[in-house]
Amino acid sequence: MKIKDIDTILNQEQFSKNDLVYLLAANKEETEKLFAKAAEIKTKYVGNIVYFRGLIEFSNVCRKDCLYCGIRCGNKKVSRYTLTDDEILEAVEYSWKNNFGSIVLQSGERNDSRFVERVELLLKKIHAHTNYEMGITLSLGEQSEETYRRWLAAGAHRYLLRIESTNRELYQKIHPADNHHEFDTRKEGILLLQKTGFQVGTGVMIGLPFQTLEDLAGDLLFMKEMDIDMCGMGPYIEHVDTPMYQYVDMLMPLKQRFELALKMIATLRILMKDVNIASSTALQAIDPYGRELGLKVGANIIMPNTTPVTYHQAYSLYNNKPTVNEETDEYIADLEQHIHAAGDVIGYGVHGDSVHFGNRINKNK
Ligand code: 5AD
Repeated sequence: MKIKDIDTILNQEQFSKNDLVYLLAANKEETEKLFAKAAEIKTKYVGNIVYFRGLIEFSNVCRKDCLYCGIRCGNKKVSRYTLTDDEILEAVEYSWKNNFGSIVLQSGERNDSRFVERVELLLKKIHAHTNYEMGITLSLGEQSEETYRRWLAAGAHRYLLRIESTNRELYQKIHPADNHHEFDTRKEGILLLQKTGFQVGTGVMIGLPFQTLEDLAGDLLFMKEMDIDMCGMGPYIEHVDTPMYQYVDMLMPLKQRFELALKMIATLRILMKDVNIASSTALQAIDPYGRELGLKVGANIIMPNTTPVTYHQAYSLYNNKPTVNEETDEYIADLEQHIHAAGDVIGYGVHGDSVHFGNRINKNK
């Protein structure tokens, strides 16, 4: 039997798990073809436009204990913070004044009623403060269907809930074995969000200990099957104060995890042509211009961190998480310049919603 070559695979419309593994294992020459194809599809289906989302990491208080994450509740070295409404509004205002079009509200996971209500009021406050012009994405973990409904009604319209890994065994290895950390509940969350009417994003970590290329191909097929609208995924980076640090010697070198993350972005762009794909902060943690490289291979979203810089250190999900102040004119000018060099323009003043979401809704009408 003739083994398929890269050109054949790249010109297909349907992809088997083996095809995806082939792409993720591509050698140097093949990777160039993969990246070029992803760039071509990006241009054709979502355009060479990058949308900014001003990221606000408004609290690191978390009820979860994920074994890879620096802000897990079991890490007693972290000093916990929660921004005031005024601090959050100030960050929102930065994005608004700079025409970013959207913000992302992210925090550790909490689902108590005080938290749910606070977010609901905050959403209303943000809209009132910015003349209802900003797109709002939430990244606040697993919640009840009612909570999702309340937050949608209060004006959020996109939600990120990373599945982290779709190999159940691996999922169990990287989470504590209790009923707070169940794969099925997390997956159910994605379905509930879709049912509620959100544009829904998910994502995984790349280069986890024990993870194989087959696992990553399975992750991509999961995204396709779930018909997700957005994706944010990035390299796994060890954090010294986490249980998973014990596996540090098993990990691929950072540069290789970075390369693999770029291949995942490119392969997803080929598999799901019209979704929004974020170029994650974890790419930037490995290479200061890592996010711009992501744009060249299929990503179309960047989330400049607009959290007040004094809190960056306390939101250390992993080692070397960037702590630069991105809320300055110089930083944005530099980012702009690098985005232009990557061949993209910036979609200022618009929400930059997922094209896939529009197509999904029309298809299901
Ligand atoms: N390395 C990379 N990404 C991480 N995250 C948490 N910990 C790490 C880590 N050590 C990611 C998870 C989570 C998101 C907010 O940050 O995917 O969903």
